[in-house]
Amino acid sequence: MTASNLPSRTRIAIIGAGPAGMMLGHLLRQEGVDCLVLERRDRAYVEGRVRAGVIEQTTVEIMQRVGLAGRLLREGLPHGGFSISWNGELIHIDVAGLTGKHITVYGQQEIMHDLFDAAPARGLDVVFGAEDVTLHDIEGDRPFVTWRSGGETRRIDCEFIAGCDGFHGVSRASIPSGRLVDYEKIYPFGWLGVLADVPPCAPEVVYASHERGFALASMRSATRSRYYVQVGAEDRLEDWPDDRFWSELAIRLGETIAAGLERAPAIETAMAPLRSYVCEPMRFGRLLLAGDAAHIVPPTGAKGLNLAASDALFLSEALTDYCRTGSMAGVDGYSGRALSRVWKAERFSWWFTHLTHRFPTATPIERKLQIAEMAYLSRSRAAQTALAENYAGLPLSP
Ligand code: APR
Ligand code: PHB
Repeated sequence: MTASNLPSRTRIAIIGAGPAGMMLGHLLRQEGVDCLVLERRDRAYVEGRVRAGVIEQTTVEIMQRVGLAGRLLREGLPHGGFSISWNGELIHIDVAGLTGKHITVYGQQEIMHDLFDAAPARGLDVVFGAEDVTLHDIEGDRPFVTWRSGGETRRIDCEFIAGCDGFHGVSRASIPSGRLVDYEKIYPFGWLGVLADVPPCAPEVVYASHERGFALASMRSATRSRYYVQVGAEDRLEDWPDDRFWSELAIRLGETIAAGLERAPAIETAMAPLRSYVCEPMRFGRLLLAGDAAHIVPPTGAKGLNLAASDALFLSEALTDYCRTGSMAGVDGYSGRALSRVWKAERFSWWFTHLTHRFPTATPIERKLQIAEMAYLSRSRAAQTALAENYAGLPLSP
């Protein structure tokens, strides 16, 4: 939208047009609530970021609720399970058989494309290139947001601000220190991810736990694959030329899976640290946080996007109720409701990371316990059910 037709007030100002902000915007518009999204970058940048692509059924239902699940259901790949490659064997986790649920492989980029494409027709205004976004009076009753666009300073008054601007955003940083409690764990390794136009080496996602480290084989379509290997926390992209990446990936995936591995030049390569993080509560006055602005999971299990989606749903319900009735009950309950699901996904992502990665810091007894846990999982239907239930996504209500 152009600066000239920007309103001077809206009910909800949303900071950040990632999955959390855009889903929240669509959910609010669906209920007829006025809102405006302010995004620092341009659309191509946000849409181009390659992220995980395993979508829980609850996230599909959120896309359905806003009428945007058509392409996801047509082009997404429904998967009934996944495998763990370990010690020369493949442990198959039959998610559908154990839980009755399946997951859908559909990249975050595609979700973003669908959310952005539909925005104008739904009356969801997104300001891209909003510089120096600043939050004001979040502790008072009349919050407002200022930003710069095209050299001019703009302002929008609102009733609530939704901080959906990711881990490094301005929203959480606007809360005075000491008013939130942070919980954080930084893992002693990272992931190197490669996107390549080759058919996937296996029909379902494969997590590999190998002596040399973790690896993951995933996909985006029948012709596009997404692969990852665990790398040292200090490693740089230059340390991992193509040949090293593909050879290491093949070793870690194990012979059976590697037999189907095709190599190709990378379309995209990225290195990311692994972190678990939660801030409590997810609210400060009239600022409500959602998605990565409030919590981060390590990518093992692909919960980041799905948590952003459930936060957006909970927050949209709270704000819609407030906008319709003036009641603060939903807003007051938002943080507790969201955190209950967040902590369970944090626990799962932390556990799955511990199960599958090689920790350079592990003591001999920790390594032995890790091996015993995998051996147990490989034979126990009960353990596989617990894994499958979390992988498919826990229910929205506790
Ligand atoms: N002002 C405006 N926008 C900002 C600011 C700012 N100061 N800082 C960050 N943003 C924008 C970013 O450019 C980004 O587009 O906020 C958006 C936040 O998006 P994400 O980081 O994707 O966070 P979220 O929407 O919570 O989604 C979490 O997406 O990126 C993945 O791995 C992540 O799967 C997880 C999910
Ligand atoms: C991915 O497809 O990028 C992906 C899949 C599963 C994960 C993480 C990432 O656990």
